[in-house]
Amino acid sequence: MPEINWELFERQVAECRLCPLCGQIRHKVPGQGDRNAPLMLIGEGPGQVEDEEGLAFVGPAGQLLTRMLGSIGLPRERVYICNVVKCRPPHNRVPTPEEAEACRIHLRMQTFLVKPRVIVLLGSTAAKYLLNPEIRITRERGIWTERKGIWMMPTYHPSALLRDESKKPQAWEDMKSLREKLKELGLYPDLLAEKDGGI
Ligand code: URA
Repeated sequence: MPEINWELFERQVAECRLCPLCGQIRHKVPGQGDRNAPLMLIGEGPGQVEDEEGLAFVGPAGQLLTRMLGSIGLPRERVYICNVVKCRPPHNRVPTPEEAEACRIHLRMQTFLVKPRVIVLLGSTAAKYLLNPEIRITRERGIWTERKGIWMMPTYHPSALLRDESKKPQAWEDMKSLREKLKELGLYPDLLAEKDGGI
């Protein structure tokens, strides 16, 4: 049994051929950020800009995500960000259950390595895949669930907020709830100034 470490993770993703998605991409997007972060954010899958750059959440949705984190005083370099699938689905379609299942091995290893205390699930794909296949994001966003010592909360995907601004007040409630959870767990970075500006 090989030792599980970041090098193995990177190699495993680079060499992965477990589903057909890797045949049509420019770059794999394993995820990035603080590998010791107590907070992990999980989205759906890379979009066009992410595919071009090999980095998660760097396109328009990613820029909004950076602002959402900033709205509660969290610099995004302090968190770990990744996706359910590491390869861009063609035309940004939702990954199939088979693709998500094939990629589970990577997400599992990543979660094992980061050891987050809190996970925020961005959008219904991540919420369905990691929390509850029947979940309705409009109804169940903002609700905390503890699994094996990890607190998880689904919220709207930033792309959904870009499409429909009327969802932003609820997303802001979720960000404040995230800040409260981090404080409750003693994880809110004490060197950061509190902000309360909305998103
Ligand atoms: N949408 C996602 O779900 N992930 C990204 O990395 C970018 C957009």
